This record gives sequence, C-alpha cells and structure tokens, in this order.
Amino acid sequence: MADAPRKLSIFDLQAKVARGEKIFQVTAVDFPTAQLVDRAGIDCILIGDSVGMTALGYSSTVPVTMDEMLHHARAVARAAKSAILVGDLPLGAYHASTEDAIHNAMRMVKEGGADVVKLEGGEDFAPMAEAVVRAGIPVMAHIGLTPQLMSKLGGFKVQGKSASAGLQLLKDALAMERAGCFAIVLEAIPDRVAQIITERLAIPTIGIGAGPHCDGQNLVLHDMVGLFDRFTPKFAKRYADCWSLVSNALTEFQDDVRQGGFPRAEHSFTMKEDEYQELLRQLPPV
Ligand code: KIV
Repeated sequence: MADAPRKLSIFDLQAKVARGEKIFQVTAVDFPTAQLVDRAGIDCILIGDSVGMTALGYSSTVPVTMDEMLHHARAVARAAKSAILVGDLPLGAYHASTEDAIHNAMRMVKEGGADVVKLEGGEDFAPMAEAVVRAGIPVMAHIGLTPQLMSKLGGFKVQGKSASAGLQLLKDALAMERAGCFAIVLEAIPDRVAQIITERLAIPTIGIGAGPHCDGQNLVLHDMVGLFDRFTPKFAKRYADCWSLVSNALTEFQDDVRQGGFPRAEHSFTMKEDEYQELLRQLPPV
C-alpha cells in the first residue's frame, strides 16, 4: 500500500527556501481541483477570495462573505492531504478590530479546516495580523495589489512603481514580518521591488505578478488552466485551455445524441429477456 502523503507545515516552507528551492502556491476553491493541486505536490493551496470572481460570478472580491469562504474552505479541506491550507479572510472580516480578526481567523481554522489564514494589507493591518498570530494562528500577509481595497488603489493596477511607493511596500512588508507573519504574498509589483523585499525579509515571499526573484510563486488555478473566460491578468500564464476543452465536449455531446452516437449499449442497462417478456405481458392496455 502506498504511504499516505505527509502533511506539510509552515516550517517546510522555510526549509525549502533554505535549500534554495521554490515554494508553490495555487488558489483552488473546490473539492476536485483541490485534489488535483494536492496530488501534484503543490506546497500550499490558497482558498482565495478570488473565488468571488472565479466561482461565484461576482465582478470583484469585494462582496465575498466569511460564510462563502468557509463553504469553499471545507470542500478544499476534504480534498487536501498534504498541502498547507491557506484560508483567505475576506473584506470586512478583520478590518474593524483585532477582535474581529481573531474571531474570523478562528472560524476559518475551526469551521473551514484551514491550517493558516491570509489577510491583505500592510502597516495599517499589522495589529490585526499580530493579534491573530498571538492567538496561535499562523498568518500569511498579502501586499501590493490588494484587490479587496481596489477602490482605494484605483482599480486592478500594478503597485509600487515609484520610488516612494516601492519604499512604502518595503515598510509594509517589514511591518508584517515584525507582526509575526510566516510568509508574504507580493501581488502585481515591479520585479525589482519584489527582489529588494525578498532580500530584506527573513520570511518567504510568494509572488503573483512580482517577477522571478520571490521565494515562491502563486497562480490561480482557474487562470492557469483557462477555466475562466473573463478578465485574466497579464501575469497569469495559461498552461491549458480547459474552457475550449469543456465547450467542445458540450457541443460534441449534443451532436452525438442527435446523431445516435450516444448513448450506446455500453452506456445502457439491460434486462433479462424473460423479465422483459413478463413486463410486456403485464402491461396495462393503452
Ligand atoms: O484570492 C486569491 O486567489 C489571492 C491570490 C491572487 C494571491 O489572494
């Protein structure tokens, strides 16, 4: 019998970086895709609030609720055996107070089955991150393009492009490291800014649109396998075209049924001849 996969911990991520290996994180939000990601050997599955756009049909992550996140987290938790499960805290779950942050981080772990939580924001949110870490739940930070606050940022825009904005990102990253975060996502920032942050921080950086110098890379599964026909960011590389694959299958299904190619004997169930004859004998008159 094959050995059960070993459950990874946040210490495995630090060990990977120390060995000069890259960290892999993929956003997946349901049972089958989480199984695929887990079995592929990805280190961290992010139950991201991008679920709002990829699976729930919202135009942004803003409306996503804690209950919606928990529903998806539970499905992912049932699927994943080895990856670290990172539960995203949605807009409103930690913004008002450290108490909210602890309460919702606890819900994500107890009710959602996540191992750790992620929250967006820099210096301003360091007290919330610190409170959650002190309460015993590891926190992954997320700075740069933080889609929950896209109105404040002026939309889905690359962040940190000026010297002062780059410096602010470094300050944000250091504040989150001081708060006790075990890793930090850098989203949509210039590669050179990400390199500086990666060099200055002791905790691993996980980039998404932040160039090749980060300690790890994050992609959203729906973007990378083409399961999403709406906006796909420039930084998301597409490794497969599942949208066309599924569309073609749906067209083929209809053609097949119309042309008598489906269902055939191998898709149908049979009845013994004597039972069939008996059924015919007992049929009520029409
Ligand atoms: O929700 C998400 O998938 C994320 C990643 C883009 C980092 O936050």
